[in-house]
Amino acid sequence: MRTRPIITIDGPSGSGKTTVSRRLAERASLTMLDTGAMYRACALAAQRAGIPWSDGARLGRMCAELDLAFSGGGSDFDLRVTLSGEDVGEAIRTPGISLGASEVSVHKQVREAMVNLQRILGEGGGVVLEGRDTGTVVFPDADAKFFLDAVAAVRARRRYLEWVTGERKPFEEVLREVLQRDIQDSTRDNSPLRMAQGAVYIDTTTLSVDEVVERMLRHIPGGAKKATPT
Ligand code: DC
Repeated sequence: MRTRPIITIDGPSGSGKTTVSRRLAERASLTMLDTGAMYRACALAAQRAGIPWSDGARLGRMCAELDLAFSGGGSDFDLRVTLSGEDVGEAIRTPGISLGASEVSVHKQVREAMVNLQRILGEGGGVVLEGRDTGTVVFPDADAKFFLDAVAAVRARRRYLEWVTGERKPFEEVLREVLQRDIQDSTRDNSPLRMAQGAVYIDTTTLSVDEVVERMLRHIPGGAKKATPT
């Protein structure tokens, strides 16, 4: 039996997973594991190595050797993602790498390598994993599972507002990309995005981050106790 819980949060792009996971991790003293960042790092490493995002076999071999590290920085749980020691936090957040991550994540070989690593990092408990398959594939026996969702226009607006530097695109284009990723992520053969059995569904369209986190804490073993009174 684990002494500390494993929590999974899945859902489509822009549903609020990353922001909510970070806040939940702070509130419940858990470590956050952003699994999307791992697929993004894979897409970036492939681009740098000249490996096409369509080449599953080569990508799988590359992922198995990827020197990928996460470190939670300080009290704000500001997660650092490093690739061979280099901080790639910003480089993996461009719209181009977003699409690349979605493309590399369709390959079985890539998913196997990533899921392996996620299980190693999370099996001790005390973690919040967020992604697309963390409750269905990575830890189907998690202590609490959530599926976050929101209407597409709101999800696209969140993505649009996120970009503070560089290549800001028109909103219509961001919405198109969000819809394209939805289709790609939910129709792929390997671990398509779907709600895990026993997951709690939360529509975040009109909820604040704190409202979502409060709802979650009610479902987490010992979670309500750790919540600060509001
Ligand atoms: O959550 P995100 O936008 O950072 O994820 C980037 C891409 O990675 C997303 O399009 C799908 C993929 N992904 C996945 O297939 N499985 C996960 N557990 C997390 C992300």
